[in-house]
Amino acid sequence: MTNQNPGLFIAFEGGDGAGKSTQAAALAGALESRGVKVLRTREPGGTPIGEKLRSLVLDHGHGHIDARTEALIFAASRAAHADQVILPALERGDVVLTDRYIDSSVAYQGAGRELGTGAVHDLNEWATSGLQPDLTVLLDVDPAVGRLRRTAGDAAEDRMESEADEFHAKIRSAFLDLAAGRPDHYLVLPAHLPVDELASLILARVDELLLSRQIPWQVSRNGVAP
Ligand SMILES: Nc1ncnc2c1ncn2[C@@H]1O[C@H](COP(=O)(O)OP(=O)(O)O)[C@@H](O)[C@H]1O
Ligand SMILES: [Mg+2]
Repeated sequence: MTNQNPGLFIAFEGGDGAGKSTQAAALAGALESRGVKVLRTREPGGTPIGEKLRSLVLDHGHGHIDARTEALIFAASRAAHADQVILPALERGDVVLTDRYIDSSVAYQGAGRELGTGAVHDLNEWATSGLQPDLTVLLDVDPAVGRLRRTAGDAAEDRMESEADEFHAKIRSAFLDLAAGRPDHYLVLPAHLPVDELASLILARVDELLLSRQIPWQVSRNGVAP
């Protein structure tokens, strides 16, 4: 089910270090400066229970986590996030920007952990009552570039990030397959472009979406208070 609410729902997807957080922050800033109400959030997490699940599944030190348990923890976090955070914001008419959503589970657990992309998709569709983004921005990153970026400085890698490059290569191609299956729904961009260039391309696509909808924040584009 696509989003039937007055708000606009945009997901940022891509490998670790692709630039999702950077671009979500840039888009939020650009929209907020026009008076658009933006909710920026992330997965796993975004709710109190989700943040606990996030540390269970991403931190090292919880012993072995089998693939199905891992998939269910991500899906549980997402269920809470969709119901308690994303849907209420869309009902209010906000623009919701999430750093990761269902596609990440399809790529990481479905393809990376080999649970099957269809099964993981179905699990997450159930978990979210079928709430889908209006647009998914996929930042396509070479796994080696992603690793270099996220290990710059002395940042430690989490459980998923520290998987081998072959695992991240599977994830990359799973994301690209998802986008190829629904080209209208995705904006796929090479993550190696400069930050500002990516931000302009994303804003241009989001502007098209905003204009295609009869919603009050268009007024603020002309400098009139909404
Ligand atoms: N287009 C880009 N070119 C070069 N470096 C980038 C770009 N986008 C982000 N970075 C840098 O790469 C690192 C990871 O970016 P981040 O936005 O945290 O990625 P993600 O959220 O996808 O893991 C950060 O240090 C960030 O400053
Ligand atoms: Mg990030």
